[in-house]
Amino acid sequence: MAATHTSAIFTTHALFELARMPAEDVESIRAEILAAIESEGGIFNKNAVGKFHLLDSLLKEIGRFHSLFAVGSSRLVLKEAVISNGTVLPPGSVVALAPKPLHNNPEFYPDAHVFDPFRFAKRRTGESVTKDVKQSFTALSNDYIVFGVGKHGCPGRFL
Ligand code: HEM
Repeated sequence: MAATHTSAIFTTHALFELARMPAEDVESIRAEILAAIESEGGIFNKNAVGKFHLLDSLLKEIGRFHSLFAVGSSRLVLKEAVISNGTVLPPGSVVALAPKPLHNNPEFYPDAHVFDPFRFAKRRTGESVTKDVKQSFTALSNDYIVFGVGKHGCPGRFL
């Protein structure tokens, strides 16, 4: 239930975006993939996949730009809670995440209205592995919620 429509919608967006991308950008992605496989002795393994930074960035940008759902990750409030802006959530109410406004917030994403396939690859500075890993498609954060966030963040995202 959780794996099929999400992966299908995502792959469809990816095919459309690849089809309308300039040929040289597609070529850069392909060249990086070939170089990564080459660096692993010609073997398409997990290490090689970890070096597909441009493809990873493209997929992450697809998630940011299109967002998969208008509202999701809904939760039923069982016990009264007060969130950081003072809003009281009474028991019985339902709360959910809205990815589109967050993923279009220029505070987090300058030129948010522009589809930039290499937005996240450019954020990898190479200074620190930990910092770079935070730019990857599978990293959960409060400003990228395509896979949800927290304890119930999508466990299938690595697949
Ligand atoms: C691009 C593909 C995918 C996207 C965008 C996606 C997105 C999500 C989102 C938004 C949630 C809800 C998180 C929440 O409630 O806070 C979720 C949950 C989940 N996903 Fe994915 N998903 C994807 C692929 C997959 C795959 C391939 C699998 C399994 C192989 C999977 C398994 C699950 C499971 C089991 C949950 C429930 C986790 C829980 O409630 O603790 N997902 N996913």
